[in-house]
Amino acid sequence: MTTIMDGKKLRDKILSGLKSEIQTFDKKPVLAVILAGDDAASRIYVNNKKKTAENLGIKSIVIEYPADVGENILLEKIEELNLDKEINAILVQLPLPAHIDKQKVIDTIAPIKDVDCFTIENSGRLYTGLEPYVYPCTPQGILYLLDEYKINLEGKHVVVIGRSNLVGKPAAQLALKRNATVTVCHSHTRNLSDITKTADVLISAVGEVLIEDDMMKDDCVVIDVGIFRDCNGKVRGDVNFETVSKKASYITPVPGGVGPMTIASLMVNTVKLYKEQNKRSS
Ligand code: GUN
Repeated sequence: MTTIMDGKKLRDKILSGLKSEIQTFDKKPVLAVILAGDDAASRIYVNNKKKTAENLGIKSIVIEYPADVGENILLEKIEELNLDKEINAILVQLPLPAHIDKQKVIDTIAPIKDVDCFTIENSGRLYTGLEPYVYPCTPQGILYLLDEYKINLEGKHVVVIGRSNLVGKPAAQLALKRNATVTVCHSHTRNLSDITKTADVLISAVGEVLIEDDMMKDDCVVIDVGIFRDCNGKVRGDVNFETVSKKASYITPVPGGVGPMTIASLMVNTVKLYKEQNKRSS
C-alpha cells in the first residue's frame, strides 16, 4: 500500500505549534526578505512567505529592487539589516539578476541572521559536521516529512538527483548525517536508472519529468522536490505520479508535498534565530 505524504497537513501542524509559541514572546520575530528583479515565481513565493509569517505573528518586511539594481545597493542594505537589532532573519530570494554576484551578496548576511543557511560560514558548519543555527529550508522540510512518517534513513541507500546548493547538496549532507549511504546524481550521471533502481529513498530536485516507475524498485520512498508548469499549464513535479505512486511505499505529491514544508521550515528557522539572538543578548 502506498502512503501519500501530506505536506499541507504537516505544515499546518508545525505552524499551529509555532503560532502558540510565538504568542508567548515579548515581541514579534522579524523576517526581512530581499526581492530583486521581476521573476514571477519568486514574487509568488515571497508573497506566500509574507502571508504565512503574518498569520503566525512573525513580522515580515519585503524590500524590493528592480532587475537592474546595483550589487552595492544590495550589500549596503544587508549590512544595515545585519546591524538592526529589530531584524532576526534575512532571506535573499533566489534567483538574483544575472549581473549580481550571488555568493557575495549571500555572504554579506550575518551568519546568525542567515535563515536559509546559505552563507559560506553556515554551509561550512553543515558540511564539516558542526551544527549551523538552522538547516536549509527545503532539505529541513524533507526531514520533517520523513520524521512524521517515521522513515529512518540509517543504513538506507538515499539517491539524490540534483546537486544545487539550495536542495541537492544539503539534502545529501543531511541524509549523511542520519547515517544513510548517499549517492548524488546529476545531469552528467551515466545510467541514471541503474542507480535509482537501488534507492531505498529517492529525492529528486531537477525541475523536469524524469522519474518513471521502471526506474525504481518496489517500496521505494519517493520525495519529489521538482515543481514547474508543464506545457498544459499543469503544476507538476519530477515524478510521474500516476505510475510511480502505484509502486512506491511513500510518495510526496506535487503540489502539496515538499513545497509547503519549505515554507514551514522558513518560519521555524526564523523563530530559531530569534531565540538564539535573545539568548545571546540576555
Ligand atoms: N528560491 C527558491 N527557493 C528558495 C529558498 O529556499 N531560499 C531562497 N532564498 N530563495 C529561494
